[in-house]
Amino acid sequence: MQTLTITRPDDWHLHLRDGAALKAVLPHTVRQFARAIVMPNLKPPVRSLADATAYRDRILAAIPEGQQFEPLMTLYLTDNTSPDDIIAAKASQFVKAVKYYPAGATTNSEFGVTDIRRCDRVFETMQQVDMPLLLHGEVTHSAVDVFDREKVFIEQQLTPLKQRFPNLRIVLEHITTADSVEFVLSADNMAATITPQHMLFSRNILFKGGIQPHFYCLPILKREQHRLAILKAATSGNPKFFLGTDSAPHGRNRKETSCGCAGCYSALHAMELYAEAFESVDALDKLEAFASFYGPDFYRLPRNSEQITLNKTTWRIPDEVPFPEVGLVPLRAGEEITWQLA
Ligand code: NCD
Ligand code: ZN
Repeated sequence: MQTLTITRPDDWHLHLRDGAALKAVLPHTVRQFARAIVMPNLKPPVRSLADATAYRDRILAAIPEGQQFEPLMTLYLTDNTSPDDIIAAKASQFVKAVKYYPAGATTNSEFGVTDIRRCDRVFETMQQVDMPLLLHGEVTHSAVDVFDREKVFIEQQLTPLKQRFPNLRIVLEHITTADSVEFVLSADNMAATITPQHMLFSRNILFKGGIQPHFYCLPILKREQHRLAILKAATSGNPKFFLGTDSAPHGRNRKETSCGCAGCYSALHAMELYAEAFESVDALDKLEAFASFYGPDFYRLPRNSEQITLNKTTWRIPDEVPFPEVGLVPLRAGEEITWQLA
């Protein structure tokens, strides 16, 4: 049997939710990853060091007995975040970044920033204390086509932001377009995370034989030419691109409904999905650095020392996994996958 043994990876963009949902999904991530950057878009969001401390404690309490996992926390940027919030967060050692959501862009983003320039004092402090900024890089005006929102964000907001704060370290999260790849390559102090769904699927899958809500996430899947650009960037061996699943659990009833939520669930089988994507372009030799080296290098954290093994063996992704009340449908539910985490 073909096997692949690599340094244990980390997930640099993850939604863990809270309460019973947190307890349901956390074991999947703990099985795959040593650490994760935990998104702060709870209701209400994680806005202060006190919120992050309490949320981190709830995550630590939900880790299955005898297992190891380190949650790396983030703060949710709002119009009211202050420079003092940043200084306090930095001093905590466990808040590793600040997340920008444009108001109204995605799940639980109603507290998000209404105009990015309002945060300039906060960005100044982040640049000074070296606190990375994580961007949900989409504009939200309804006049902009949903497939163009990332590209327009780069033109209208990110390019000027980079000029105002050249030394602020920025991660453009879950990139989906060739435009983002090009921008990240061209700018200093700039990296990007890449999800499995944006490496494996173009927007065609959203309408394959009917509407497919479990492939709906934000930023939405794009044309094939963009998928190919993302796949190429992830497998290029360039340290600016690293793993972030954006695994975003929503119960089945919130996906299979007349107005479904955005988010794909991939924490169950993330490394298997990435292995398939890398194998599809004969780049399995590049998987370890993407999954296990470039993320910690960017965040200036030590690389993990344990290892994981993936076996080349076919198994069926379950139709659903346990989740409070309704069950949770993983990405590519019911289909076969050709790698398996040992
Ligand atoms: C995320 C969620 O559900 O929290 N959904 C998604 O489609 N990615 C929010 C986000 O990161 O945009
Ligand atoms: Zn996300």
